[in-house]
Amino acid sequence: MTEVLDRYPAPAGFAGPNTITEAEYNRLYKESIDDPDAFWGKVAKRLQWYKEPTKIRDVDLNPDNFKIKWYEDGELNVSVNCVDRHLEKRADKTAIIWEPDDPNAPAQRVTYGELYTRVCKLANALRKLGVGKGDRVTVYLPMVVDAAVALLACARIGAIHNVVFGGFSPTSLADRVRDCDAKVVITADEGLRSGRRVALKANVDAALQLPDVTSVEAVVVLRHTGGDIEMQAGRDHWWHEVTANEPGECEPERMNAEDPLFILYTSGSTGKPKGVLHTSGGYLTYASYTHECVFDLREEDVYWCTADIGWVTGHSYIVYGPLANGATTVIFEGVPSYPDSSRFWTTIDKHQVSIFYTAPTAIRALMRDGEEPVKKASRKSLRLLGTVGEPINPEAWRWYYDVVGDGRCPIVDTWWQTETGGCLMVPLPGATAAKPGAAMKPFFGVEPALVDANGEFIQGAGEGNLVLLGSWPGQMRTVYGDHQRFIDTYFKAYPGMYFTGDGCRRDADGDYWITGRVDDVINVSGHRIGTAELESALVLHAKVAEAAAVGFNHDVKGQGIYVYVTLKAGEVPSEELRKELVAHVRQNIGPIATPDYLQWAPALPKTRSGKIMRRILRKIAENAPEQLGDISTLADPSVVESLVQERFIR
Ligand code: WT7
Repeated sequence: MTEVLDRYPAPAGFAGPNTITEAEYNRLYKESIDDPDAFWGKVAKRLQWYKEPTKIRDVDLNPDNFKIKWYEDGELNVSVNCVDRHLEKRADKTAIIWEPDDPNAPAQRVTYGELYTRVCKLANALRKLGVGKGDRVTVYLPMVVDAAVALLACARIGAIHNVVFGGFSPTSLADRVRDCDAKVVITADEGLRSGRRVALKANVDAALQLPDVTSVEAVVVLRHTGGDIEMQAGRDHWWHEVTANEPGECEPERMNAEDPLFILYTSGSTGKPKGVLHTSGGYLTYASYTHECVFDLREEDVYWCTADIGWVTGHSYIVYGPLANGATTVIFEGVPSYPDSSRFWTTIDKHQVSIFYTAPTAIRALMRDGEEPVKKASRKSLRLLGTVGEPINPEAWRWYYDVVGDGRCPIVDTWWQTETGGCLMVPLPGATAAKPGAAMKPFFGVEPALVDANGEFIQGAGEGNLVLLGSWPGQMRTVYGDHQRFIDTYFKAYPGMYFTGDGCRRDADGDYWITGRVDDVINVSGHRIGTAELESALVLHAKVAEAAAVGFNHDVKGQGIYVYVTLKAGEVPSEELRKELVAHVRQNIGPIATPDYLQWAPALPKTRSGKIMRRILRKIAENAPEQLGDISTLADPSVVESLVQERFIR
């Protein structure tokens, strides 16, 4: 193993045409803060506009006069920027490499020229189905080339896409379709994951039968596995049939920069998932610019982000950023452990991947299988590694660096959120020597600050709640259908500032370390799950009186889910009921929300005003009863004792 260092600069000779050096970073960062209009005005020129924006920024984060607008008089079409624009020079360049679930099935390479035709055909077909500017289209697809095609086709005709992760249940799918009033759903017969089929179309059928899901007029179905499904006459249409006779050209809709591009649901600390809304001009500018700078993009790169298109990482850094930059992006249908845990590394060799971007949870899981699966592949094509989704522990970071990257590839640890559209803090590879586990420095235009519980700024080294001053073009604009919730959620705790929900430490060098969520959001394998969602799923069950969910540290997943359940009077706890309740949550939300532990709670610890004391439940779940602290404010301190005794000991 190589030497253990606390700082890792890029190796000598790393720099390429787009590499940002330390001096450039310092100069550009200062410029971006001193004169954001000039800075972001220049950056926007990287896109192709029908009408170039002259008004760059109009932002007021005070709840009374709230507005966030970027490039408001600009006009563009996002699909034109991601496809048409490249036809002149890159028509025969590979836009997308598709690696199927089964490594022995043929991979696909789609050029920008072919992508153009496929996007136009689907866009025309959607228009014929009555989809127009501003209509919502829910996309529930596996990781296939057509997932990117579907997003771009929506963007072409000004429809607002809403991707729902293929792992979500019919209930979660229905919640999202209902909330955004989707006119059309695009899905596939089935998905494939580690050889197992995922019943996507059947899930759509089930979702559309649930109460108050009435907006959907048509379902477009991609034939993927060829599995048996039911097609409902008048409503369901095969993708290949509706596109067959459509021309391979489609007049794009001329969109205002502030017109919505997509809605993506994400969990918060309270209530139902929020429909995070992103707009066209600012989002694309930010996704494309960050993608180029953070990954130090070069024309010949093969870039692979292993996220799913159902999450924001898939939107910004599989589809929009890379395609806006004319890059070659890999879409991977499978999972890291199938057929075995060398899959990532052999796929890197197979497609000569040069930039690889994945999640800490995947690294930790693969690390457990040792170096041998990694050494099965040469990984010579790699030059840059990235992580996203949760804090990475230094041990996993070093394994990624030493074993996967052979000690020669910088790691970009990218901190951001669904709400932020793109990366906000990162060690830019040519500018900032990385420290294992640190997000390090703000990207251009980003002004982080730490505040304490009283809202006072923390200066110098210290730890607190992470807020952001000012705005950046990729910032979300609203919660779909509930603008007040947007303001209340993010701008009320510290008026005039965006509250991230994350805790953060600034070290003596001024570098930032994200410590994790400080709100009631559990980050399981890089996926956000709200405790409120878990609790409302549990109390839907006829035998449950009350429930509380908390996170606990998990070696592989980062955080696991620990739930406490109080049964209704007369109901008796049993192993069978425990399994039933776990399955109930899984069915209601999806497999990612499966509780790891379910503890029976005769009662929950509450304050005298009836508020559940999660701090206490967290300590019990962490198996750290000695750290319970002061429990004297509880209405009935004795409930804690029995919970401590009955806890799961790991
Ligand atoms: C939350 C956002 C960003 C796309 C994927 C997740 C955590 C994300 C990092 C990182 C430490 C991270 C934060 C954040 N997070 N990236 N590099 N280091 N924590 O998007 O589902 O919106 O979750 O993920 O807690 O708030 P998301």
